[in-house]
Amino acid sequence: MLEIKNLNFSYNKKMLLGNININIESQTFIGILGPNESGKSTLLKLMLKNLTPTNGEIILFNKNIKDFQLKEFAKICGFVPQNSELKTPLKVIDVLLMSKYIHLKNSFNTYSKKDILEIQELAQMIKIDELLHRDILSLSGGEFQKILLARALLKQPKILFLDEPTSALDLNHAIEILSFCENLIQEQKITIIAVLHDLNLASLFCNKLLFLKKGEIRYFGNTKKLLKKEIYNLNCKIIYENSKPYILALKETK
Ligand SMILES: Nc1ncnc2c1ncn2[C@@H]1O[C@H](COP(=O)(O)OP(=O)(O)O)[C@@H](O)[C@H]1O
Ligand SMILES: [Mg+2]
Repeated sequence: MLEIKNLNFSYNKKMLLGNININIESQTFIGILGPNESGKSTLLKLMLKNLTPTNGEIILFNKNIKDFQLKEFAKICGFVPQNSELKTPLKVIDVLLMSKYIHLKNSFNTYSKKDILEIQELAQMIKIDELLHRDILSLSGGEFQKILLARALLKQPKILFLDEPTSALDLNHAIEILSFCENLIQEQKITIIAVLHDLNLASLFCNKLLFLKKGEIRYFGNTKKLLKKEIYNLNCKIIYENSKPYILALKETK
């Protein structure tokens, strides 16, 4: 479904990603892991056409993403960014309605009752219904993260890209949100590509893991195998529960 071939990417002649080759099957939950600054967000931005590869190509549904019209591409891909640029005091519901803009027949059409209903239904499901009339700038980090997810889901994307979607959520909320996304894989036949920092959440949810280090893929495959290896140079113990590996970080002993 999504294939990256011989991709390299440099900023100002500094190579940030090199020799990236992966093939992602549809209806999978892919986790991208790696130390800070290893190029995870850059890789997502390339897959989202926000950046252009220096070399190589990204093929989505048998078509190079550079050949997609922007509107067509925006309908297929939903994105929850790591940092959002939203600085305008808008009502949450208005921010969510914006995601319906790409579905309007022309820019003079207005949003329908169906759009509002859809937002209310989704809001109930991910428990943001009480936030719909709040000023977006007044939300907590966790509440804001849920709004960004709702905004991405309202486009009914085929692929959902998440950049550290649970970094501002406590463990309960993180599991609730990732479970909700996971269910969409079957229900709406979507594929999820998520940058995650929590190795245990990655183990719980991801079918496959991609491990980046210094702009290169060090591993792409089965979750269990990666979490067996030495991860992040971490002093840790690996515990198995229901045959899934969980990482118990230990203090450095000298
Ligand atoms: N616009 C930019 N110009 C120059 N360097 C950048 C830019 N954006 C990111 N970088 C650098 O690219 C590297 C990888 O960044 P990023 O993909 O955000 O890493 P990660 O998400 O894995 O933490 C970092 O060293 C970062 O400073
Ligand atoms: Mg990042």
